[in-house]
Amino acid sequence: MTSEATQAKATPPGRGRVTAPELGRLKRDGQAIVMVTAYDATFGRLVDEAGVDVILVGDSLGMVMQGHPHTLEVTLDHMIYHSRCVRRAVQRALLVADMPFMSYQVSPELALISAGRLIQEGGAEAVKLEGGGREETVRRIVSAGIPVMGHLGLTPQSVHEFGGFRVQAREDAAAERLRRDALGLQEAGAFALVIEGVPAPLAEEVSRSLAIPTIGIGAGVGCDGQVLVIQDLLGLEDRFKPRFVKRFAELADTVREAVGEYASEVRERRFPGDEHSFSAAKREPAPASAAAGAGYGPR
Ligand code: KIV
Repeated sequence: MTSEATQAKATPPGRGRVTAPELGRLKRDGQAIVMVTAYDATFGRLVDEAGVDVILVGDSLGMVMQGHPHTLEVTLDHMIYHSRCVRRAVQRALLVADMPFMSYQVSPELALISAGRLIQEGGAEAVKLEGGGREETVRRIVSAGIPVMGHLGLTPQSVHEFGGFRVQAREDAAAERLRRDALGLQEAGAFALVIEGVPAPLAEEVSRSLAIPTIGIGAGVGCDGQVLVIQDLLGLEDRFKPRFVKRFAELADTVREAVGEYASEVRERRFPGDEHSFSAAKREPAPASAAAGAGYGPR
């Protein structure tokens, strides 16, 4: 399939630039919302061209970019850096940046300052924060004109409290708390809510009870949309596969094979060939993409 055909398949007709209020309309129209993470310009461009609705610069970058076992070491400066990288490449999708650990828990004022930096310096169009009982914080950020996405259930920044990455809200009391927290976030002005790692029937019930859209990960098909970490979706992380992940490609194998082939050709002096080398005399015309400013290196 050509890349245009791929994009046409992924993007329903009539969908232009995605905004935070637009997600509410998608829910009201019964259209599923597609969200995926990206942390750099290369993947930002590719997933945007594939026609996703929302690109999340997730603090999951602590794991997939930085190699930590959790997200707790990610700082606001890290988030701003990665958000800026993605921002330069995204034209259509709504760009949401995660508020990292300790950037919003201390006080609503600090939360507003952190959210403002993600918008102003990171180029994000909305922020996401984890946990319930944060109505005051959400109101404070929303009152400054910054759209807030909530995140309930298995909130990774609470991994130590949970004793690991475990499915949440299986007991009645915890399920009841999640219902209450979801309503609280909606009433405080959140425009959408990620529900992670909770039983599918509960996520579906909460999704139906809310006017704002829910976006699930490990929360079943009853949510209003789905999100996956791009490394999981593409099979770039192949050391383990949690139950909630579906790999839509096996790129880890592809990468190892391609780099192995490159290594062989270099060692056997088969790469670079004449077609990859420059002559002294003639200057070849630059390709059209170079004229448009794309690409790098000598020509
Ligand atoms: O950080 C992240 O990538 C996330 C999603 C998995 C929802 O919060």
